[in-house]
Amino acid sequence: MARALSISSSNLFFSFIFLIFSHATIPILGEEYSYVKRVDPKKIGMRKEKLSHFRFYWHDNVSGRNPTSIQVVAPPTNSTTAFGLVNMIDNPLTIEPKLSSKMVGKAQGLYTSASQEEIGLLMIMNFAFFDGKYNGSTFTVLGRNTVFSKVREMSVISGSGLFRFARGYVELKTYSVNLTTRDAIVEYNAYVLHY
Ligand SMILES: *[C@@H]1O[C@H](CO)[C@@H](O)[C@H](O)[C@H]1NC(C)=O
Ligand SMILES: *[C@@H]1O[C@H](CO)[C@@H](O)[C@H](O)[C@H]1NC(C)=O
Ligand SMILES: *[C@@H]1O[C@H](CO)[C@@H](O)[C@H](O)[C@H]1NC(C)=O
Ligand SMILES: *[C@@H]1O[C@H](CO)[C@@H](O)[C@H](O)[C@H]1NC(C)=O
Repeated sequence: MARALSISSSNLFFSFIFLIFSHATIPILGEEYSYVKRVDPKKIGMRKEKLSHFRFYWHDNVSGRNPTSIQVVAPPTNSTTAFGLVNMIDNPLTIEPKLSSKMVGKAQGLYTSASQEEIGLLMIMNFAFFDGKYNGSTFTVLGRNTVFSKVREMSVISGSGLFRFARGYVELKTYSVNLTTRDAIVEYNAYVLHY
């Protein structure tokens, strides 16, 4: 009886010591955070994830009276890859290669020359839609674009509206480049998982 008592009182002593120290270093198990709640994914429309394939043509218009792609930083050296160049874009996304075909959104963001050995761009773009149910939704494309490769691939990293929690990738192929004006049309095929 006396032995049992001494064990339990020493246990108590060690739990007491543990509590003092643990409080200062790690959160006690089961501690509540008033600003965090578990949510049923269905309540925010996350029911069935689907895969959609979008195809559009991206128009990089650097010439003309109203260019949609504007150099905002000139390459600071004479690098043959234009290393350091930055272009800001608000490029139309159309459903056919012709600029006059239906425009469903804009690719807004920038690209910058990020490679000193070859032409390799870092691209950061929000694909902002204004067609039908996609109006107001966006997904974000980020990746490396070696523009002289036949097919390039970049990531879809997330989105807003219908593209919340989106992920996926885009494959792009140059459709045409005017070597005089440097205007380019690029075919984008986007495979996007979203709810
Ligand atoms: C670029 O924009 C001009 C008008 O500013 C237009 O005439 C031309 O067709 C466009 N080029 C391309 C490749 O979209
Ligand atoms: C680029 O090259 C030209 C001609 O060789 C030279 O005059 C100029 O200073 C160079 N510019 C830079 C930023 O290196
Ligand atoms: C897209 O949404 C905006 C804002 O709600 C609205 O003004 C615009 O007319 C819509 N465009 C289309 C094509 O539905
Ligand atoms: C390239 O653009 C120039 C200037 O707009 C135009 O005259 C020429 O026909 C275009 N070339 C091609 C191959 O489209």
